[in-house]
Amino acid sequence: MRYRPLSAQTYTNHRKKFSHTLPALSMAIFNSNDVLPTNADGTMPFRQNNDLLYLCGADQEESILVIFPDCTNPEHREILFLKETNSEIAIWEGEKLSKDKATALTGIKTIRWLQDFEPLLKALMAEAETVFLNSNEHTRRSAETGTRDERFAKKLMAEYPLHNYERAAPAMHRLRAVKSKEEIERMQEACKITEAGFRRVLKFIRPGIKEYEIEAEYMHEFLRRRSRGFAYSPIVASGFNACVLHYVENNAECRDGDLILMDVGAEYANYASDMSRTVPVNGKFSPRQREVYDAVLRVMKASMELLRPGVMLAAYHKQVGKLMEKELVELGLLTAEEVKNQDPASPAYKKYFMHGTSHFIGLDVHDVGLWHEPIQAGNVFTVEPGIYIREENLGIRLENDILITEDGYIDLMADIPLEADEIEASMAESEAVTS
Ligand code: GLY
Ligand code: MN
Ligand code: MN
Repeated sequence: MRYRPLSAQTYTNHRKKFSHTLPALSMAIFNSNDVLPTNADGTMPFRQNNDLLYLCGADQEESILVIFPDCTNPEHREILFLKETNSEIAIWEGEKLSKDKATALTGIKTIRWLQDFEPLLKALMAEAETVFLNSNEHTRRSAETGTRDERFAKKLMAEYPLHNYERAAPAMHRLRAVKSKEEIERMQEACKITEAGFRRVLKFIRPGIKEYEIEAEYMHEFLRRRSRGFAYSPIVASGFNACVLHYVENNAECRDGDLILMDVGAEYANYASDMSRTVPVNGKFSPRQREVYDAVLRVMKASMELLRPGVMLAAYHKQVGKLMEKELVELGLLTAEEVKNQDPASPAYKKYFMHGTSHFIGLDVHDVGLWHEPIQAGNVFTVEPGIYIREENLGIRLENDILITEDGYIDLMADIPLEADEIEASMAESEAVTS
């Protein structure tokens, strides 16, 4: 395997925690994601369903996980159904999970081939009163294409209309929001890989280079460190492009005197990292660039100090808005008058800082979590303030990932150069080496 999965013990603990949320005589069923088609016989790279991964680590298409803690047959309290592997499949696609390997990976004793699912389901449904089905309830999910979970839910509810049906998502969000020790280790590894990519591009950036060449340097570093690549579409945006928040073309030439904003993160073991750094193309910030950079950096550092167990995310975002407002006035971008007369429903700072400061991160880059409950130890958040000044062709965002602890936080990206002086020094060092 390219990456080190979590241990079978951790997956077993995750299932145990989930099982404890189920009422009596409940069965939960989780489906793999589809292998999504492109054109002709092409497919997208497979990306497993994160709830299924969290509960068992089976990183293989067409897998089904059944959890039924009260089932009378102890062998059926946890079952993992897998696509049967055979010599023909092995020739074309390589080895799939065998039953023994699946047990070693997941800690699940009962592994069955997929063709046993339908007959066994009849017996299980006869015993279950309530069925918990999985669904993607992310507030910004794309519902254009259906999922296996959705198709399965429709079919099951049509075939067994008299059972009680419940959503697995609320419990999954609650569990996934608080990371286990091994999940944090994998996220730290993802951040380390991102750091290696950033250190590599610091040596590489110079006037005339193309944004996609920088993207390629990251990819090279990520793949050789056992990542499967970017955790999300990378943004490598020089000059004005940095003011386009979701710029992903990465086609432009980097010009002398411009800044380049890079929002990139490696995935590792299906866990995301999410970093933003903004550096001068020629290795030296202009006084104005430096002034804005330091303002963003101050907001970032102060925001990290605000994220504590017990804090509500809405209140935190308001406080960050106030910090940003003060900086924007000092930079001459907002007047005291504008601030005084602002509509609290659409504060003045949003003209230059139009996105949120923090989101949960984990198996998903915009991970599931409890947005309306107090922050807890074990949550992992990004902290990503930015200032975007279109009229000055200037966009700066800085972003680190931090783990909330009982009495503060651990910055998982603490080793990645962040101070302007540090960035300039690293870029100057590489210039000395290459010239
Ligand atoms: N890279 C996406 C984000 O920063 O949220
Ligand atoms: Mn980002
Ligand atoms: Mn982010």
